[in-house]
Amino acid sequence: MRNRNSQRKGSSGHDQAFDEGEEKMTIGETVSDGALTELSRWSDRVLEDRVHRTLYTDPAVFEEEIVKVFGGQSWVYLAHESQLPKPHSYLSVRMGQRPLLLTRDRNGALHGIFNRCTHRGATICRDEAGVAKSFQCPYHGWTFRNTGELVGAPWPEGYGMDFDKSQFGLLKVNRIETYRGFIFGTLNEDAPSVPDWLGPATTWLDYWIDRAPDGEVFVRSAAYRMGYRGNWKLAYDNAGDGYHPSFSHRSLLEMASRMGDSKDMSYFGRTPDDGPMRSYSLGNGHSVIDQRPAHEGGFWVNQRPQPGRERFEEEIRAKYPERADELLDLCVGAQINLSIFPNLLIIGNQIQVIEPLAVAQTQLIWHATSIGGVPEEVNTVRMRTQEDFPAFGEPDDQANFEEVQRGLGVVEEEWILMNRGLGTGWQSAPEDGVVSTAVTDELHMRSYYVEWIKRMDGDQA
Ligand code: FES
Ligand SMILES: [Fe+2]
Repeated sequence: MRNRNSQRKGSSGHDQAFDEGEEKMTIGETVSDGALTELSRWSDRVLEDRVHRTLYTDPAVFEEEIVKVFGGQSWVYLAHESQLPKPHSYLSVRMGQRPLLLTRDRNGALHGIFNRCTHRGATICRDEAGVAKSFQCPYHGWTFRNTGELVGAPWPEGYGMDFDKSQFGLLKVNRIETYRGFIFGTLNEDAPSVPDWLGPATTWLDYWIDRAPDGEVFVRSAAYRMGYRGNWKLAYDNAGDGYHPSFSHRSLLEMASRMGDSKDMSYFGRTPDDGPMRSYSLGNGHSVIDQRPAHEGGFWVNQRPQPGRERFEEEIRAKYPERADELLDLCVGAQINLSIFPNLLIIGNQIQVIEPLAVAQTQLIWHATSIGGVPEEVNTVRMRTQEDFPAFGEPDDQANFEEVQRGLGVVEEEWILMNRGLGTGWQSAPEDGVVSTAVTDELHMRSYYVEWIKRMDGDQA
């Protein structure tokens, strides 16, 4: 069997979570009885430069992730506040695989109540969203307030005299916190505050939110849901990957160049590591790719052609001559790809949520956003822009996810590499926990796996 030596620590010294003295395994290494590499601890599956295939294929890993990575140890993204617009609004979401109702009480305060009847376990609400002061379980009629308390059970005499309703309220998420409209939840009472946990990622979220002249962002339309037959981490691996676009999205780039003089994304194909774009590792598993420096002359002029957009441009230039360039730039994406571990991806103007369904089954939910403080034409063109990538680019990515999952069926080839950028000197010295590097560096993967180990080992407090 082949034996490729594991790569040593990169020159930046950033990947500190990996002990210099630790003995490294080699790809395809076997133990004496002929079995594949022995994997007794979670950390055995994550080396400095590679991860074990079972992280993507083993149902036992998935079950543990659902408990620990998705809300058990630290924060997980749940929804945007604009999806719960008024008192008594509710929204059906998931925390990992736990069905969850986000609700507002009569004062507008947010609650996270598990959508799981305390009687025999049925979901009590089967609608996606709406307005309700209480929920009645369709199975046997138990009724709960939108803050979780049990209001009543039909024919209570059947439970004897000492039936205490206060004991049977719905289980609640220990902590729900927001950052400028983004709602997160965790079961860990000791988790840091959301702004502390987001850390330097707040700067990037602020940029994204403050593109709206009045700082208001809305999720108003129905979501675009796409499923793929692959592990959820394949989407997270890819979100910070500046290596693949010019290969994986070649047909999109070729179509755009046939239709006009678009520069959007084509800069990924021209030695992107020498260009002005940068990728940043932000700590706690978060990362961002900044495409903005590649956009000379503004975002609008670089955008791929969109059928019919000329009429809107004329209209905006005629009606708002002073602000036209600024408004047109707001019609197209924010030119950052921000990944908040484990399940929130900000891509252009969209909010994408990763929903793990099974070890090799994932749903991606794309929410288009509108912004306040702009004429309605801007939000109309913005919507056309947001329809572009999910239709013409995302299928390329999902095909890759499914083909990686298929490739991982070769059990004898055990390791997935994430070593690009190691030993190159690409990475900057850490500054306030942030390391910047070239866009094709796989630092984003190495960084989030450090967080992954922390959560799986339960070491978050
Ligand atoms: S399961 Fe909800 S009332 Fe019986
Ligand atoms: Fe992609």
